[in-house]
Amino acid sequence: MLSDSLLKKFDQLIARYPLKRSAMVPLLLYAQDEVGCVSDEVIAEVARRVDVRPIEVIEVIGYYSMLHRKPLGKYNFQVCTNISCMLRGADEVFEHCSNKLGIKHKQTTADGRFSLEEVECLGACCGAPAMQVNYDFYENLTSAKIDAVIDELKRK
Ligand code: FES
Repeated sequence: MLSDSLLKKFDQLIARYPLKRSAMVPLLLYAQDEVGCVSDEVIAEVARRVDVRPIEVIEVIGYYSMLHRKPLGKYNFQVCTNISCMLRGADEVFEHCSNKLGIKHKQTTADGRFSLEEVECLGACCGAPAMQVNYDFYENLTSAKIDAVIDELKRK
């Protein structure tokens, strides 16, 4: 199910920590990148490798909003609507993304390319309003900037 290179990375990550369970979140993130979500199989494999019960992995997944049980779009738009961004137009940013992508909160486009969600602070308050697309940050957003990001991703 998981690639040999990912399993090798698991071994390397686990070896970095005095407690195996400390590697749980990095393992889940790398597995999510490969599989597209944190599937039941991923949970079972990670639990086995860090010596915890699967329910303990599920509890951790419930805490971290960047871990997803269902597949997301290839490009996941996370628009911050927390206080700094809200004061600088985050609601309009989210609405613009929603209209441009044709999807609402926690939805994915029919072609599986884009998903959208409203999230809490991304730690980019100085550049509010901000969003994150996969691992890339975009700050001081305007409608024109959002259009440029989406158009660029559509060309890929
Ligand atoms: S409030 Fe939006 S990045 Fe912090």
